[in-house]
Amino acid sequence: MRKKLIVGNWKMNGSLAANAALLESLRQGLAGDCKAGVAVAVPAAYLAQAQAELAGSVIAVAAQDVSQHEAGAYTGELSAAMLQDFGVRYTLVGHSERRQYHGETDAVVALKALAALAKGITPIVCVGETLAEREAGQTEQVVKRQLAAVIQQVGHCVSELVVAYEPVWAIGTGKTASPEQAQAVHAVLRAQLAAASEQAGQMVLLYGGSMNAGNAAQLLAQADIDGGLVGGASLKAADFLSIIAAAQ
Ligand code: PGA
Repeated sequence: MRKKLIVGNWKMNGSLAANAALLESLRQGLAGDCKAGVAVAVPAAYLAQAQAELAGSVIAVAAQDVSQHEAGAYTGELSAAMLQDFGVRYTLVGHSERRQYHGETDAVVALKALAALAKGITPIVCVGETLAEREAGQTEQVVKRQLAAVIQQVGHCVSELVVAYEPVWAIGTGKTASPEQAQAVHAVLRAQLAAASEQAGQMVLLYGGSMNAGNAAQLLAQADIDGGLVGGASLKAADFLSIIAAAQ
């Protein structure tokens, strides 16, 4: 049985005061026995705050991005070593908003995953098709291409990845992939991972895209869906806690 993992992606939201309140509510809500893994991917400016406020809790700190470079003249970037300094356990790589607005290619995403692994940070590799790609029947081809670039780059460390399937058309739109649609893609990804690693059966595959308190249980009941990458609903403690409860 794979342990479920629920990751909140705050994106560019929050403030010192709002974060303190949200993190405190999450801590309190998870004070009992929590069988699922939980993490929050906070904006980089709040990594220190999250590290301090989540110390001793079951909630891990995650970053939303990492540089592929180790150090040097890369203004505005954050290295994996810097994330490590702040106790970061996971980092998203290749979120569709990074691919779309920051021109991140499959090759760059793969290098980012490698940079994170080199510092002991688990990359959460995001893959997913656009609506046009789905309608053109290219879903499998697109997600396999995106994942293949990472698999090729990280070599024998494949089993240390977390993979998140996030159909672009479902992100922030309120349109969730049906459990069957999501499971079908997860099965494709699991098979691709199995061809690269004997440990694919233990790897954690997340679904993301308008996951909420109402639809989480059905999605999480699918054979190859091991958790969620949750955007909007992770900003409200009650909603995020309900999703975590559905994962236990
Ligand atoms: P959403 O975002 O839950 O708001 O759709 C998910 C994500 O982008 O990770």
